[in-house]
Amino acid sequence: MPEGPWTGRAPGRVNLIGEHVDYLGGMVLPAAVDRFTTVTGAPSERWSLVSEVPGGLPYARAVGEELGAPPQAMQAWSDVPPGSGLSSSAALLVSVAAGLRPDMDGAAAALACQRAEQRATGVQVGVMDQFAAALGRRGHALLLDCGTLEHRLVPFPDDLVIAVIDSGVHRRLADTPYNQRRREAERGVPRRRRHVESELARVAAFAAALEAGERDRLGELLKASHRSLRDDFEVSTPDVDALVERAWAVSGCLGARIMGAGFGGSVLALLDAGAETSFAAALDGAPVRFCKTADGAYSSSLPLRRGGSA
Ligand code: GLA
Repeated sequence: MPEGPWTGRAPGRVNLIGEHVDYLGGMVLPAAVDRFTTVTGAPSERWSLVSEVPGGLPYARAVGEELGAPPQAMQAWSDVPPGSGLSSSAALLVSVAAGLRPDMDGAAAALACQRAEQRATGVQVGVMDQFAAALGRRGHALLLDCGTLEHRLVPFPDDLVIAVIDSGVHRRLADTPYNQRRREAERGVPRRRRHVESELARVAAFAAALEAGERDRLGELLKASHRSLRDDFEVSTPDVDALVERAWAVSGCLGARIMGAGFGGSVLALLDAGAETSFAAALDGAPVRFCKTADGAYSSSLPLRRGGSA
């Protein structure tokens, strides 16, 4: 544990596919993206956090406590927009872990961050976001088995553009029926189970299509994922559905879907390179962020080409 000042930095994430399956031990395919949170800190008499974004202290403190750190005075800066689906919480948690314990195994750090988030919020989140922020890699997506925690990198082509549309509905997970959906899925409520089973098949198909360069297939899978999240898992909203349908109609957009926990938040779209301007124009005022894949805070602990846990 640092005895003096420390700095940690971690990215936000997108999830390409595999939604609401991580807490069931399913396979997910997120990627770290080039929006970052940086935290500095130093041991102090009590826990504190100075940040433009309110509400981060319980998260940052919970990570410190998970890692056995004494109280820290911390300061955070971030361009991961809070509440909009890029997992600003994972970026904050993992940046604190990376600052306090840069030597730690990345998977172990991600698990400590997941426990910290659960403790700080009471939301029984899965481990996807923390893994992506810890172990994502530039030029890749991270195929993660949330049951065994085995993971491997899948190359993500340079000429495929990640677009994230902010629905404008910013929410804290604790204010959503996230825990309720999780319980329904665990109990095997038929419609919820139909989403989980079909989504797991889509993750496998998506990873294969990404590796084979089958772009049309990627788009079809995104659309099918959205319909399943909308109709079977019921985590979309009419406003988000309207954004998704607008995105589907743009030439050069392969597909789009609601991303992350849902209940507002953001929409993920994949575009052919060059379609960015017409895409943003067609979205007619809804804020669109174009993202590139980026390195996670612990990415150097993951072998570049093939998998296995780090
Ligand atoms: C949030 C949670 C994740 C995951 C997604 C839905 O982002 O933090 O663990 O469950 O929702 O896929």
